[in-house]
Amino acid sequence: MCGIVGYVGPKEAPEIVLSGLKRLEYRGYDSAGVAVIEQSGAIAVRREPGKLQHLMDTVASQPIQGNIGIGHTRWATHGKPSQRNAHPHTSMNKRVVLVHNGIVENFLEIKDELQAEGVVFESDTDTEVIAQLLERHLEAGMEFIDATRKTLQRLAGSSAVVIVNPAQPDMLITARLGNAGGITLGLGEGEMFIASDIPAILDYTREMVFLENKQMAIITRMGYTVTDIEGNPVPSEVHTIPYDPVSAARGEYRHFMQKEIFEQPRAIIDTLRSRLLFEEGAVEIPSMNLSAELANNLNKLYITACGTSYLSGLVGKFIIESTARMSTEVEYASEFRYYNPIIDEKTAVLAITQSGETADTLAAMELAMHGGATLWSIVNAIGSQAMRVADGHIAMQSGPEIGVASTKAFTTSIVDQYMLALLLGELRGTISAEKRTSMIHDLALLPDLAGRALETDAQCKEIAQVYQHARDFLFIGRGINYPIALEGALKLKEISYIHAEGYPAGEMKHGPIALIDEEMPVVAIVTKNALYEKMVSQVEQVKARGGQVIALATEGDTFIATKADHVIFVPKTPYLLEPVVNVIPLQLLAYHIAVWLGADVDQPRNLAKSVTVE
Ligand code: AGP
Repeated sequence: MCGIVGYVGPKEAPEIVLSGLKRLEYRGYDSAGVAVIEQSGAIAVRREPGKLQHLMDTVASQPIQGNIGIGHTRWATHGKPSQRNAHPHTSMNKRVVLVHNGIVENFLEIKDELQAEGVVFESDTDTEVIAQLLERHLEAGMEFIDATRKTLQRLAGSSAVVIVNPAQPDMLITARLGNAGGITLGLGEGEMFIASDIPAILDYTREMVFLENKQMAIITRMGYTVTDIEGNPVPSEVHTIPYDPVSAARGEYRHFMQKEIFEQPRAIIDTLRSRLLFEEGAVEIPSMNLSAELANNLNKLYITACGTSYLSGLVGKFIIESTARMSTEVEYASEFRYYNPIIDEKTAVLAITQSGETADTLAAMELAMHGGATLWSIVNAIGSQAMRVADGHIAMQSGPEIGVASTKAFTTSIVDQYMLALLLGELRGTISAEKRTSMIHDLALLPDLAGRALETDAQCKEIAQVYQHARDFLFIGRGINYPIALEGALKLKEISYIHAEGYPAGEMKHGPIALIDEEMPVVAIVTKNALYEKMVSQVEQVKARGGQVIALATEGDTFIATKADHVIFVPKTPYLLEPVVNVIPLQLLAYHIAVWLGADVDQPRNLAKSVTVE
């Protein structure tokens, strides 16, 4: 999940590479580096551990110049974060320099072979074996492109690389093996760009080409050639990416996560736009390529994803099963890919992924494809692998989500599943026209309801100050709000580092109630729905044991205020859409606790925005 940038053209490469890395900093920030080929033909490298700013300061004080360059922000896999393990990596005799994203699974075997031949390694990384092996092939007399192909064919595992050879200072070679983070080519006028993620180069071009698995590109400032790693030419499609520079900037917000929480009403509108035909009482999603025949031929849906996207799928199960009457199973992609699920032509597999590049999710999609399933995806990153390989997809259209903790992608992906359920329900004849019209009316109210939930921000900040030093948190909910209890816990733990657990409230008496004491804040989702009385009873059980309860309740519910220590009111919301509204105060609570604690909200330790390795 590292960030990669490359450039060749008339401009100064360091400036372009560093500005691109800045936009990718959320992908990994253990260390960073940049390399250029100087006019003298020498490789010049600057590398620093820690945040990208350290590298930028070094380049400012020790400038490097050149018109071809590569750069990298690292999320460490092999070799702890340090200068010697930072990318770019140079081969022993300085004949190649490269950056890499992914894992070389057979690096020890290759490293042993090379060391036995006298190669001296500088780092502990798996990446360095790529540079050293490539140099061996060059020294054996192979030409750069062929030597690169031979090297790539030897690597096991998923990798994305960008390579420069000072003997050919006008050429970049890049390649993608497996589901490691993507490689995007940016097409300029007399210049070319490479990035692991679109935002890195959107300031310079919106014409993009995306490499697929086992493809490589030979790039000069005048253009590119794409082949497979055996050297056979392959067709490449140029995509024009819509982009709004403002939406990718933080604006007046203190953190990207805060901005993205507050963008949710607009993001919901954007994901509804052009799909929700309010007057006709219909939903249209052409990108799903859905037909009545297909919809009625399916008898099983798997939803597969990771992290917050998985929890969105848990919500989607409630919506799709109740609306489209399609048996739905939700599974972590990291489990799905290894447990040999029962898949056939009557199965649909829906992958939910903000980045569209999560390795486990892409692997689960590949398994689904090989099993003959119909493959769908709900994705935010335009042009990402998960969007491209699916038979049908829904773009979340929530705009770039930069904060590592996912917020607007979570809520828009629920809305997208709600629209998918409406579409499937209509095609399968499982909902009446009246029911469909009513559900669409509910959907049209959602942006306003979400906006009202944001009005709890000041109260959430106050409550966060009270509980910022709690050692543990428990989140409980029932029915469609059980996944929201899980998501509230995940948001809190990943940005504040406070241990937090989500639980189905009915399970309290089967174990978790033993945890309750006056030190344990319990967040209970007690909104007015069919399970309200059950939840009130849970709150009473926690209070009876001295616990502290923060209740999420429906506006006007004066009764719960007599039971809980704090009540955060949200507007009355149709049951199937409650998760979109109820999650917002939990996002705000997690955000403010993290801010009170001085945590690195947008770049929490050990995490990255896109997990492109297993
Ligand atoms: C969510 O807050 C986390 N950052 C993480 O769980 C994330 O949802 C997960 O890695 C999946 O990412 P994706 O949606 O890009 O596939």
